[in-house]
Amino acid sequence: MIICVCNRISDHDIRAAARAGATCCKQVFGGSGKAPQCGSCADAMGEILDETIAAGERHLMAAE
Ligand code: FES
Repeated sequence: MIICVCNRISDHDIRAAARAGATCCKQVFGGSGKAPQCGSCADAMGEILDETIAAGERHLMAAE
């Protein structure tokens, strides 16, 4: 699903960015060579980032 309409950034792109180390929207945009425009995607992008990071941390804790 496209989350950022201005830059055509999908939820998959955001999860991939989080797994690559992005922790904020600015890093998602920068990592894809794009820049925020209207900013209306920030909340949804942040939620997906947080969920992906939290899931990764749970996965690491389960492996310990
Ligand atoms: S929807 Fe992401 S900057 Fe506009």
